[in-house]
Amino acid sequence: MESADLAACGALLAERHRRHRMAEPLLSARFCAVDAALRELTATFETTGASGAVALRDAVPVGFVLGAPKSSPVWGPNVWVEAAGQAVTDAEVIRDLYAAAATRWVAEGRTAHYVLVPAHDADLVRAWFRLGFGQQQAHAVMPAVRTRTAEVAGLTVRLAVRADIPALAELDLELPRQHGSSPTFSPGVLSTVEENLAEWEEGIADAGLATFVAESEGRVVGSAIGCALEKSGTHLGLARPDNAGFLGFAAVFPHARGRGAGRALGEAVIDWAVDSGFDSVVTDWRVTNLLASRTWPALGFTESFLRLHRTVAT
Ligand SMILES: CC(C)(COP(=O)(O)OP(=O)(O)OC[C@H]1O[C@@H](n2cnc3c(N)ncnc32)[C@H](O)[C@@H]1OP(=O)(O)O)[C@@H](O)C(=O)NCCC(=O)NCCS
Repeated sequence: MESADLAACGALLAERHRRHRMAEPLLSARFCAVDAALRELTATFETTGASGAVALRDAVPVGFVLGAPKSSPVWGPNVWVEAAGQAVTDAEVIRDLYAAAATRWVAEGRTAHYVLVPAHDADLVRAWFRLGFGQQQAHAVMPAVRTRTAEVAGLTVRLAVRADIPALAELDLELPRQHGSSPTFSPGVLSTVEENLAEWEEGIADAGLATFVAESEGRVVGSAIGCALEKSGTHLGLARPDNAGFLGFAAVFPHARGRGAGRALGEAVIDWAVDSGFDSVVTDWRVTNLLASRTWPALGFTESFLRLHRTVAT
């Protein structure tokens, strides 16, 4: 892919986003405009190490794929195709594009491939599946609308206070624990309770975070954090709805799971987003995390982008 290809590929990307918005109207309307889509594409193109391929039919561009590496070691020797990194007029073309682009990625030793695909496009998702990819992560969104679930007997949800810090620090371990176990096998970087305590000493006073705790029989059993989506390092560009709140974290201690605390905490964040004037709420989860992948759709979140993953064995 060359800089001369950008204008035509920007138009393909804007058209992809226009179709995506028909399925998911909470996505930003801005990127249906070719100049806005082109800016996103150009920024990706200018990322260090970016490379990709363009498909032509009768000399007319009918698709592109564009990836770039991330420096964090957790992703392995990687290439990421982010939200602005692909568009095709018909799904099958993505297989030729990947074949061309991945030749270079693998030759460079970048064998871990990650791709963000619009969730509504079943043909495109299937084309990636027929390239050996599987789903790793879900990005999801729902309208910010006040929740109406009946209260759970004996359970209260309230904003966290300084006295909750020890429980919050313990709860922070539950997500990496869950991710470290089968079938996710993806613990990431594990922090200690001491590190979590130190972070919460500052975080508890952060006016940009809405931290909720669920209490049962006088003890904290779970926590959840809401914030503006701008605070998140993910859900960027075309994958970032305008004026969105973010459900950034939730955990319930194992002994208290399955009794409605997770729902109550998630709903506290959704209601906070409504009160804060956000139009939508965004979250994401590992699809192999059986607990999260059942809880968040039950609250009304629907997938907007799928992150697919393939490791090439060389
Ligand atoms: C995800 C988590 C916070 C959910 O908390 P919880 O208290 O167990 O959740 P709830 O009991 O409120 O259940 C929430 C919804 O998910 C559904 N659900 C939960 N577990 C389920 C299961 N095994 N099968 C089917 N549905 C399930 C419930 O039915 C409920 O929906 P409903 O109210 O419509 O019936 C909790 O499991 C947890 O701490 N997991 C480890 C950390 C983690 O994964 N955090 C999420 C990060 S993205």
